[in-house]
Amino acid sequence: MFDTFKPTLQRRSFLASSAAFAAGLAFPFPKRLSAKTASITEISLNPAPGHAQLVPLPYGKTPVWCFNGKVPGPEIRIRQGDRARITVKNGLAEATTVHWHGLRVPNAMDGVPDLTQRPIEPGETFVYEFDAPDAGTFWYHPHQGSTEQVGRGLYGPLIVEERDPIQVDRDVTWVLDDWRLTKSAEISEDFNHLGDMSHSGRIGNTVTINGRVPQSFGVRKGERVRLRLINAANARIFGLDFTDHDPVVIALDGQPVEPHTPDSGRVVLGPAMRADVILDMTGKAGSRVPVIDRFYRGRGYLMIDFAYADTPLRDLPPEWSKTLPSNPLPEPDIANAQRHEVIFNGGMMGGMVMGDMGGSMGSGDGTESMRSMMHAGKIWFVNGVAATGHIMDPLLTLERGRSHVIAMTNATAWHHPIHLHGHSFRVISRNGRPTLRREWQDTVLMAPREKVEIALVADNPGDWMFHCHILEHQAAGMMGVIRVT
Ligand code: C2O
Ligand code: CU
Repeated sequence: MFDTFKPTLQRRSFLASSAAFAAGLAFPFPKRLSAKTASITEISLNPAPGHAQLVPLPYGKTPVWCFNGKVPGPEIRIRQGDRARITVKNGLAEATTVHWHGLRVPNAMDGVPDLTQRPIEPGETFVYEFDAPDAGTFWYHPHQGSTEQVGRGLYGPLIVEERDPIQVDRDVTWVLDDWRLTKSAEISEDFNHLGDMSHSGRIGNTVTINGRVPQSFGVRKGERVRLRLINAANARIFGLDFTDHDPVVIALDGQPVEPHTPDSGRVVLGPAMRADVILDMTGKAGSRVPVIDRFYRGRGYLMIDFAYADTPLRDLPPEWSKTLPSNPLPEPDIANAQRHEVIFNGGMMGGMVMGDMGGSMGSGDGTESMRSMMHAGKIWFVNGVAATGHIMDPLLTLERGRSHVIAMTNATAWHHPIHLHGHSFRVISRNGRPTLRREWQDTVLMAPREKVEIALVADNPGDWMFHCHILEHQAAGMMGVIRVT
């Protein structure tokens, strides 16, 4: 559809190989061409060790791994229908890849090591090139050694702008992360810890917004903000309570949704999930209003304060439309869809890993095999199989061009944000009840024991990863391949 772009590229290489190590440098970002036709944006990403002032002084900078010397990496902005050409030069001491989370890209551009490309070795370069069919809020991150690479700070926002955006006063991106820091503000080295892998993943102790522990965010009464929230944490789930404000969700995982205030009043984001929220700043001039994360019961976490300026922008919120133009997603025909079942199990329950042998594991010598399975990193299972790498026989094969319903059961005691590559899907039911808004997602958060049905047209050929985005769960087996052919 968008293959008529003209390669009228504007090239401005700002990859500063060694300078990229220095934090705080301003990297000029290439501007789009203002041509009416689709254009191509050239971007360079340099994953490498760096330093970031995650926590305020008197703490020093934290050694991190990051893109272009910054946490988060540069915000990539392209317009819907445009093409991005992204040159990744690996400045890490280990292999990496970059995955464009939520973007419907061709399989060879999906950034999955071994499955869709050879990993990018240290010093090597790989060029990703794809069109952006959908407008929305997306992000990028490595898919190699993700627990550690993402956990050390390798991620960045990728915004695809609508050709005809809704009116707001400010368009703001907040990339949320959760770090496990030591007392000296260094990253705790205990990646892939067995306890994290078999329970809720690597939950940290320090939450950052855009790579900093934030103090306040200046606003004005009457202002309308489009807040793009991205959860880049390995494992932490956020349930954001905007206290005196009424957040109106207008998009989930980049895809427009009927504007609504979330049922719980909170904006819930599992790892990798995004929400675009319209916030009308309705507080009093000169006041401070907190945003509190209340996902984990009894453990409210003050994220940030809105700090109102003394002079209002306007007295009442504007009356501009909150409805985003829809994206060109193929509509699944649910009545004629092929049905598939997926069951997730594993993890700790009452001190026992519940694996593919179901109840038989508790008996006698089961304990030993359980222990050895755990040490082999097999803790979570998708239809009875624990993944040990990215190459595997497909768990499901979906006939291309057809509609499919995947009925998923979370047979574990834990939450899991389940992500499918290469497609967005409609979430059509939860525990047998139709969802209200049939939201499009690329990552769906499943509660313990929950059953969720998703529907999609399998229109993007290839082998696609399908996994839990709690990165420790993924690394411990909770991953499979869905083939579209
Ligand atoms: Cu955000 Cu398989 O990835
Ligand atoms: Cu999980």
